[in-house]
Amino acid sequence: MGIVRIHILPKGAFWLVFLLWNTIEAQIRYTIPEELKEGSIVGNIAKDLGLEAFEMSVRKLRIASEADKQYFSVDLGKGELVVTERIDRESLCGQSASCLLPLQVVIEDPLQLYRVEVEVQDINDNGPVFLSTERVLNIAESTATGARFPLTGAKDPDVGSNSLSSYKLNQNDLFVLNVKTSRDGTKIPELVLQKALDREKQAVHQLVLTALDGGSPARSGTTDVTVQVVDINDNAPIFEKSLYESSLRENSPESTVVIIVKAADADDGANGVVQYSFAEQTPDFIHEMFSIDSETGQITVTGSLDYEESHTYELNIRATDKAVASLEGHCSVQIDVLDVNDNAPEIVLTSLPNPVKEDAPLGTVVALIGAKDLDSVGNGKVRVSLLGTYPFKLKTSFADNYAIVTDSKLDREELSEYKLKIIASDSGSPPLTSQKDVIVRVLDVNDNPPIFSQLSYTVYVRENNAAGSIMCSVSATDPDIGENAKISYSILDCTVQDVSVSSYIYINSDNGSIYSMHSFDYETLKVFQIQVQAKDHGSPSLSSNTTVHVFILDQNDNVPAVIYPSAVMGSVSHQKMPRSAKAGHLATKVSAVDADSGHNALISYRLTEATDSSLFSVSLYTGEVRTKRAVSEQDDSSQRLLIEIKDNGDPVQSTTVTVNILLEDGLQEPISEYRQKTAEPSRRNSKITFYLIISLASVSVLSLLTFVILVVKCVRNSRSSSSCCIRRADSDGYKNPNRNLQIQLNTDGPIKYVEVLGGDMLSQSQSFRSYLSPMSEFSDFTLVKPSSTTDFKEIINVIDASLPDSTWTFESQQTNSPDPTHSGLDD
Ligand SMILES: *[C@@H]1O[C@H](CO)[C@@H](O)[C@H](O)[C@H]1NC(C)=O
Ligand SMILES: *[C@@H]1O[C@H](CO)[C@@H](O)[C@H](O)[C@H]1NC(C)=O
Repeated sequence: MGIVRIHILPKGAFWLVFLLWNTIEAQIRYTIPEELKEGSIVGNIAKDLGLEAFEMSVRKLRIASEADKQYFSVDLGKGELVVTERIDRESLCGQSASCLLPLQVVIEDPLQLYRVEVEVQDINDNGPVFLSTERVLNIAESTATGARFPLTGAKDPDVGSNSLSSYKLNQNDLFVLNVKTSRDGTKIPELVLQKALDREKQAVHQLVLTALDGGSPARSGTTDVTVQVVDINDNAPIFEKSLYESSLRENSPESTVVIIVKAADADDGANGVVQYSFAEQTPDFIHEMFSIDSETGQITVTGSLDYEESHTYELNIRATDKAVASLEGHCSVQIDVLDVNDNAPEIVLTSLPNPVKEDAPLGTVVALIGAKDLDSVGNGKVRVSLLGTYPFKLKTSFADNYAIVTDSKLDREELSEYKLKIIASDSGSPPLTSQKDVIVRVLDVNDNPPIFSQLSYTVYVRENNAAGSIMCSVSATDPDIGENAKISYSILDCTVQDVSVSSYIYINSDNGSIYSMHSFDYETLKVFQIQVQAKDHGSPSLSSNTTVHVFILDQNDNVPAVIYPSAVMGSVSHQKMPRSAKAGHLATKVSAVDADSGHNALISYRLTEATDSSLFSVSLYTGEVRTKRAVSEQDDSSQRLLIEIKDNGDPVQSTTVTVNILLEDGLQEPISEYRQKTAEPSRRNSKITFYLIISLASVSVLSLLTFVILVVKCVRNSRSSSSCCIRRADSDGYKNPNRNLQIQLNTDGPIKYVEVLGGDMLSQSQSFRSYLSPMSEFSDFTLVKPSSTTDFKEIINVIDASLPDSTWTFESQQTNSPDPTHSGLDD
């Protein structure tokens, strides 16, 4: 049986058809490529069947297909088998290697059946096709090299050499392609990791896998392979700086931001989320002072910063990621605390202040002080000064140390304690200050003598005072304190009438009360002076003196003494007068003296008994006994008169004298004027007043003269000794206490007389006798010139002493120069 193989070339070259003649049953096979166009000639079936062209239509040749579709038809005219429909080998035959389309050719008359096979040959009309155009691979970055990742292969419906033959991977560093062939012959491409993945370097890699078939020209298909590198925590957080530096003021309030640290973690997700914290073993004080925000890395102040406590802080910060096995990074933060002038300077007493003596020399150290300030250099520079004016100053000894020293003279009596205000200020801006009071006590030094309350004292003591009675008190004060102010009084010894004054006077040394030690007699001692000294108990002690003038006041302790008529011859005195005497005849004169003075010595005379009370009268003040009428023949020749003599004291002291007057014939009347006087009593009185004025003037002139002489003397002597006058006066007074000059001015009622007594006290009675002549016509007023030079001061003293009631003051207009004598008088 012959087989005709007809190869039909695509260009339909008939001459390539080999006709193999066989029986009717002989098979005819045509080979055509797939995908021929409609009308393409497969072969000349008539010829191959050995039929004439005309026979075909005559014999009704037709094709019966075994398949559903009729892909072929016969051109009856030409006898050619032509393609009527597109033939897709892949849909007809799939992957089978040969693809035959059987055809039955039926010819009638006679009926003949021929079998024709059309082999459809594959052409490379399909490329390899991947099921999906993109493939995503997740590969952990830690994956070891050499790991394989199978990919889905591509399909190519073509067969044979036109089917899938190879894979190709685009050029890359990481993967190579390996194609393995499975048991059924399919090729499986797989990626082989060549190099370690680093997500941080490149998280996604894009690959392109190309599948190629074996056709010519080859067809290809591609798919994208996306390799996503899966992160693993292979990166620790890393701080931007290993050392951060920041500074802030020490008084920064809480929650002040110090600095923000930042760490980065290259990892992804939780592996790359950074948390901040203080490093382990961070001391507690840092935790108290600062806090760090775990999310943001912001460091804030939580405590109160104090430069003086710590100038700098070093914080170790840790950053960790949130991975399960977290990694950490570290950095340190250096925080410098800046000084703020928040500390006031402090004044320190290096030594307690010493009490200082008031006579301490300038520059005596009283106390040592120091100053300090906790702040640093600028803010801590301290200036110390005294606030106010004191007799002290500050002396710098060495850095910030001062001595308080005396700067001027101190006087405890003025101020015994100083409160020194010391102020310290630093040089901050604004400066802070502080103040301290230092109390310095001033110690007493005995620099003040006691001072008497009066320059001099005047005491009046009645005569016949009780012995031991208190006379007066002197007192002195001393501004010092303690023993320096404790005063003892004493009487400086001197003599009064040749007797030590201490026998007259006693002084209570504690309180200055002065006592008389025996009673005084005015008639023997009228005035004396004592020197009292007040002495403090300081060491050395200081003293001062004062003079106490003691004036004895007269008491009416003396009875008037009758001087004339003298009672020497008996109690009765006999006087003679002529019978021819007219009225107003001065029969006699009774004279009496009273040792007292003043009122007590003012004597009055009164006729108390008379033989004939109509004949005689007694002048009240003069004691003159005169006839009231002419004597008559009837009058007794012996007239007895009892005259009472009284003084003006209280109580009155009186005495009496009896005068016998004998009336005799033949006696002549001696002085005639008396009659006139009797006749003109007013004229007589005015005459007496006139004489009195002259006498007073004389006394004044005398006193003035004496005074002027004394002053002149004094001025001369004062060139050598300034206080000669008073000293001379004093010493004279003590040396000659008996020498005395007395001026008595009776001021009780109309001025009756002025007595000036002089000379020794002891010769007083003589003086009296000399001026109390019964014959003196002007005995109403008697002036006795001082017998010797008597100091004027004494005169004045005596005048003063005589007038305790100060009814009369002596005024001197003599001197303009300050005269100690004068000032002494004014006391
Ligand atoms: C002084 O002391 C005496 C005795 O103690 C006393 O009698 C007298 O009154 C005192 N004098 C003064 C002034 O206190
Ligand atoms: C007080 O008097 C005495 C004796 O006369 C004398 O020594 C002394 O210096 C006087 N004192 C004063 C302070 O005058």
